[in-house]
Amino acid sequence: MTSRNICILGGTGFVGRHLANELYNRGHRVTVLTANRERHRELLVVPSVRLRNANVHDPEVLERALRGHDVVINLIGILNEREHDGSGFHRVHVKLARRVAEICRRVGVPRLLHMSSLGADPGHAPSYYLRTKGEGENQVVLQARPEVKVTVFRPSVIFGPGDTFINRFAGLLRMVPLAFPLACHRSRYAPVYVGDVVRAFADSIDDPHTWGERYDLCGPHTYTLREIVEFTARTAGLRRRIIGLNDLLSRVQAYVMEFLPGKPFSVDNYMSTRIDSVCRRNGFAHFGIEPQPMEAIVPTYLGALAARERYPDFRREARHDWNG
Ligand SMILES: NC(=O)c1ccc[n+]([C@@H]2O[C@H](COP(=O)([O-])OP(=O)(O)OC[C@H]3O[C@@H](n4cnc5c(N)ncnc54)[C@H](OP(=O)(O)O)[C@@H]3O)[C@@H](O)[C@H]2O)c1
Repeated sequence: MTSRNICILGGTGFVGRHLANELYNRGHRVTVLTANRERHRELLVVPSVRLRNANVHDPEVLERALRGHDVVINLIGILNEREHDGSGFHRVHVKLARRVAEICRRVGVPRLLHMSSLGADPGHAPSYYLRTKGEGENQVVLQARPEVKVTVFRPSVIFGPGDTFINRFAGLLRMVPLAFPLACHRSRYAPVYVGDVVRAFADSIDDPHTWGERYDLCGPHTYTLREIVEFTARTAGLRRRIIGLNDLLSRVQAYVMEFLPGKPFSVDNYMSTRIDSVCRRNGFAHFGIEPQPMEAIVPTYLGALAARERYPDFRREARHDWNG
């Protein structure tokens, strides 16, 4: 396997950290761009990552940062915007994604991997998030061709150590005693393990059959949101009754939470849940990857099993404290 010079945009996030590690373990040289090196200081000591300060929204800075790489991977994405009219999503998912592709073509980066989302569709998706992700995909493919070989990945919701999905529900469940009101509880997902997603990214780099392709990525099973939250509660050792909200109350909850600090749930999130996030054709088949189920992975980072596995660390830390 050839060692590549790879630049990741959005590499400081959940997927990016796992991907940087996977690529490093395969012998690649990885640079992660961030606007805020200080905020991600802990990454400076991770051997797999070369963290570089760059405002990716400045075209000249971006061009300088991407020049000379063999592969660019764009993972940048947002689930919420500061605005309420889609312009924030458009800036990140369409304008920036298009610019990355244009620059790759201009400076001669031969390979671009682009992260989108299952259900992304510029014309028909119900939310700004999914519509702009769909438009971004199309723009990237259009701008890059024919010089830059593009592969697009469209996963369902992703779980794994450090995720925002399972961990966020676990956090909310801990905060709310006894009964937990759940919006959009009938929405269906095929949660996909981050380890499988990053393997597909890494495998695609030197696979010419993936050029110009878009891969939907799903885990092996489909669950309703209620089933996922019940599983999360069980795994975290929390006894909670899940109360499924009807459509009207789900919408009201979204309107209220849209204005809470950190936007834990928004009207746009609510709109995204109006379509199921499940695959018609699972792209893992192309890579010969058998996706892992939640049941095999989530207990390793949430709940009793995870705590037991951390016992040696706890003991070491305790001994350290006692010994000064
Ligand atoms: N997680 C999922 O369940 C899931 C499912 C389907 C698709 N995806 C897609 O996968 C990608 C990665 O997801 P993730 O869960 O790893 O997200 P994440 O943890 O929130 O990380 C997002 C990354 O994007 C960067 N970023 C965010 N807003 C930015 C902006 N305005 N300008 C420049 N950089 C910005 C962040 O950089 P800083 O930290 O430096 O600000 C961070 O590195 C996203 O495109 C997401 O839409 C995720």
